[in-house]
Amino acid sequence: MNLKRIAGFEAAKEVKDGKIVGLGTGSTTHYFIEKLGDRIKEEEIEIMGVPTSYQSFLLAKEQNIPLTTLDEHDIDIAVDGADEIDKDLNLIKGRGAAHTLEKIVDYSAKIFIVIADESKLVEKLGAFPVPLEIISKAVKPVFSELKDMGSEPSIRMAKYKDGPVISDNGNFIVDAKFGLMDNPVHLEKDLNSIPGVVENGIFSQMTDKAIVTCENGIRKINF
Ligand code: A5P
Repeated sequence: MNLKRIAGFEAAKEVKDGKIVGLGTGSTTHYFIEKLGDRIKEEEIEIMGVPTSYQSFLLAKEQNIPLTTLDEHDIDIAVDGADEIDKDLNLIKGRGAAHTLEKIVDYSAKIFIVIADESKLVEKLGAFPVPLEIISKAVKPVFSELKDMGSEPSIRMAKYKDGPVISDNGNFIVDAKFGLMDNPVHLEKDLNSIPGVVENGIFSQMTDKAIVTCENGIRKINF
């Protein structure tokens, strides 16, 4: 059973005709975007998408989803995946290095739904490092601040390119492990107050609803 696919398809049912839709990034959102494309073809719904990355931009084009921007439209509903989800629906995102635009789009949506399989549910955030997008020239001072905060940061290296991952915005991605978090709200703010940090991957207090899939079925939270 493909749990990511089920979550993506279920979320696509929540999109009503005429809406402006934030298109998240990642392997779960892939299925959401695919299903939206099917609904446009089969049900002739008229929607417009706002992509959160080159990945979702290219997939939306392939699915013939009309696109728009934050300059032109307000977003009614955004759907996105996550790397970790705690019981208050705080998230860690950014394993795909797209968290900056994801946060802008997801935050500005009237309704933000996170979709995932149950492996993403955690008691507390922080088993994985927090991704940060940083200005490349700020590596040294940012690392020094992160170390003072008790973390051991590292620059994310690319797999099929020599050197570091470069984000869609032309910046470096740093992964900083903090361990299990008692207060993700504060940590999110503290990280963004470091000069040189563009955005960090903690998404606290901004998720309205969740669709989480497991072998036994679909769990819908706050619906
Ligand atoms: C992209 O940078 C990430 O925030 C993804 O949205 C997140 O990693 C979820 O991805 P998967 O759906 O592939 O697990």
